[in-house]
Amino acid sequence: MKFLKKVGIFCLGAGLILGCCVLAGGCSFSNGKRIVRIAHGQSETHPEHLGLLKFEQYVEEHLGDQYDVQIYPNELLGSSQKAIELAQTGAIDFVVSAAANLENFSDIYEIFSMPYLFHSEEIYRNIMSDTQYMEQIYQAADEAGFRVLTWYNAGTRSFYAKKPIYTPEDLRGMKIRVQQSPASVSMCKAFGAAASPMSFGEVYTAIQQGVIDGAENNELAMTNNKHGEVAKYYSYTRHQMVPDLLIGSLKFLDGLTSEEYDVFYEAALLSTETELKYWDEQIEEAKQIASEKMGVTFIETDMELFQKKVSSVQQNMLDQNKSIRTFYDHIQEVNKKSQQEGR
Ligand code: GCU
Repeated sequence: MKFLKKVGIFCLGAGLILGCCVLAGGCSFSNGKRIVRIAHGQSETHPEHLGLLKFEQYVEEHLGDQYDVQIYPNELLGSSQKAIELAQTGAIDFVVSAAANLENFSDIYEIFSMPYLFHSEEIYRNIMSDTQYMEQIYQAADEAGFRVLTWYNAGTRSFYAKKPIYTPEDLRGMKIRVQQSPASVSMCKAFGAAASPMSFGEVYTAIQQGVIDGAENNELAMTNNKHGEVAKYYSYTRHQMVPDLLIGSLKFLDGLTSEEYDVFYEAALLSTETELKYWDEQIEEAKQIASEKMGVTFIETDMELFQKKVSSVQQNMLDQNKSIRTFYDHIQEVNKKSQQEGR
């Protein structure tokens, strides 16, 4: 770290004020400031990008003489899986990724891919907002080389395709893109469809070219990622709520003083607050834009039919992955309590 700071100072001293960017050991300096790279896969208008701008603003307000936060949207630094690997090595400092992409690094994250895990969006949001409880889960990824700092709402996932899906039978034989998560592949198979895992950035072209028949995601994928241009039927199966997570490389975080860490952590919490606010606004708009401007038909389904199809998936996951049990029980407790309270 000290050496790297010296490299930055050297750049300044050499008069290379603009564009002086030294790449050393994976991290860069520009004008004497450590560049903090954040990678994500959404566009610049997405709630997560807006949340990250708040992160940048807060960090630079407090530590702007030392750190220059740079946000790279649209998978510019690679797909989520690639970006996580880069964070492990320290080449990227932060990544926003769906929890599903962490399954391959730390198996507790598989829990979020379990179909019909949370009984409502309210329960999901309350559990994810319980920062103290979630810390225990986030710590689990430390051994993989990164620390989860906070979460972002990524809504509820449902299927969308070139043809309407009303019942699980309609899914039979269809080729559906799922996230690169073993649990989502099992879920998709249990629904009777053929699972085609691929990175998010590849989905639009894959539907357009007929490589797949459809995908599954929240409604923003239809507008913000333009999938509504190529898939005209969105069927509310509401089968998963998979949060996105802000992941920090331990190579970076471990080098911070505790005061600096607190600034980055506070910035992360603020980014979530901002993201959640924009999320609620944009999700309503997305439905309207997709149906009125893009000609997407939204279909309500009998969710119980879909739920029955994947009921064995939950049990199989619990049998095969012991690390998810405690968190699963906690979620069930909250589900039960809110049912008793009539919510
Ligand atoms: C959502 C989520 C992304 C994720 C994507 C996916 O859009 O916000 O982080 O990459 O789903 O299905 O891959």
